[in-house]
Amino acid sequence: MKYEFDEIIDRRNDKYSFSFKWKSPGYILDDLGVKGYRDDVICLETADMDFRVAPEIIEDLKNLCDHGIFGYSTIPSSYKEAVCRWYKDRQGWEFSPEDIYYLPGTHEAVAECVKLYTKPTEGVIVLTPCYGYHGDVEANGRKYVSVEMINDGNEYFTIDYEALEKACADENNTMIVMCHPHNPTGRVFTHEELNRVADICRKHDVLIVSDEVHSDIIRKGIVFEPMMKACGSKGLIACTAVNKTFNLAGLAMTNVIISDPELKLQAGDMYSMPTPFGIQAVISAYTRGDAWVDAMNEYVEGNIDACIDYIHTNLPKCKVIRPEGGYSINVDFSDYGLSGEEIVERIYVKAGVILNSGLFFDDRRGKKIHRACLSSPRKMCLEAFERIAEQFKEI
Ligand SMILES: Cc1ncc(COP(=O)(O)O)c(C=O)c1O
Repeated sequence: MKYEFDEIIDRRNDKYSFSFKWKSPGYILDDLGVKGYRDDVICLETADMDFRVAPEIIEDLKNLCDHGIFGYSTIPSSYKEAVCRWYKDRQGWEFSPEDIYYLPGTHEAVAECVKLYTKPTEGVIVLTPCYGYHGDVEANGRKYVSVEMINDGNEYFTIDYEALEKACADENNTMIVMCHPHNPTGRVFTHEELNRVADICRKHDVLIVSDEVHSDIIRKGIVFEPMMKACGSKGLIACTAVNKTFNLAGLAMTNVIISDPELKLQAGDMYSMPTPFGIQAVISAYTRGDAWVDAMNEYVEGNIDACIDYIHTNLPKCKVIRPEGGYSINVDFSDYGLSGEEIVERIYVKAGVILNSGLFFDDRRGKKIHRACLSSPRKMCLEAFERIAEQFKEI
């Protein structure tokens, strides 16, 4: 079956679109301290896709609509079997249906782990620059402990094991949130990297929460290994979801996998009631979604290649590398010799392209590096960079 990823769907004006990404780009500008943007703005910030959900899932959700009652709902065994099947077949990772706990979203899941498995004022380690777990950690009265990764100068990041060991050796730090694949760096950690991290954490009794929501979106030739498969289940919790993979984030269905019997003792408190739409979407995605995900990965890879080629030719002073996983690229505009404010003005206001600045991930990354999610029709992604290139061509 051929799937359609080129279709441009109006998520900015359509009555049935409640898109956070397209309806509220203003909050990004507020954070950057700028006012106003073009009406025909292109939004490549928030990590969701502009592709229509797989037709197989839509078909099942329409049938659910025809059922006509959307009352309090419970997760059936077919749901858990579908989750187990997906990870066994696609990632070679086996766990039992009893190891699956459901929470409404990955933030919720990380925050719940923080609340259940750490005490107030304890430290939670994050490898930075990183997608924002600040709210999950600090809003619960815990301390966010940043361990900076090593940047080779070209935006390729590796783990600073010495710094990690130092953070883990501090008795106040009792948890690490691993982001694997790592957002925004695009790293897919290797078997060796994962095991070095796990060894250090276990040596110091630091619980590992591995956020693997981007794990189905991987470049050809790169192997994603779930951390629990690579390192075993002791002292390790994994968070997985259909949210990114199938563009179902609005249904907020995150599965938390806990196979360590000791951790399961406290996991009973991890409970939330899902919607019937969420339940059906997960069953459909994980039983009927393989071909769509394969096609989506191929299309996204084409987007990444096309945009990087375009940037190399038309924004020659930008630094950008191909991510190993996820669908976003980081574009470093530093070599244009402009201030962060001037770069922001050109991209966000004049070109009317909304991205995520480095500030979104780490204060130190500032306003010269910007992340673009390339999970939109190719024409839209390329138009965004054409508009940006126009603003930098004289420099
Ligand atoms: C690494 C990572 N974790 C979690 C989330 C949020 O996921 P959810 O929508 O399931 O809460 C995102 C969203 O961009 C993400 O990139």
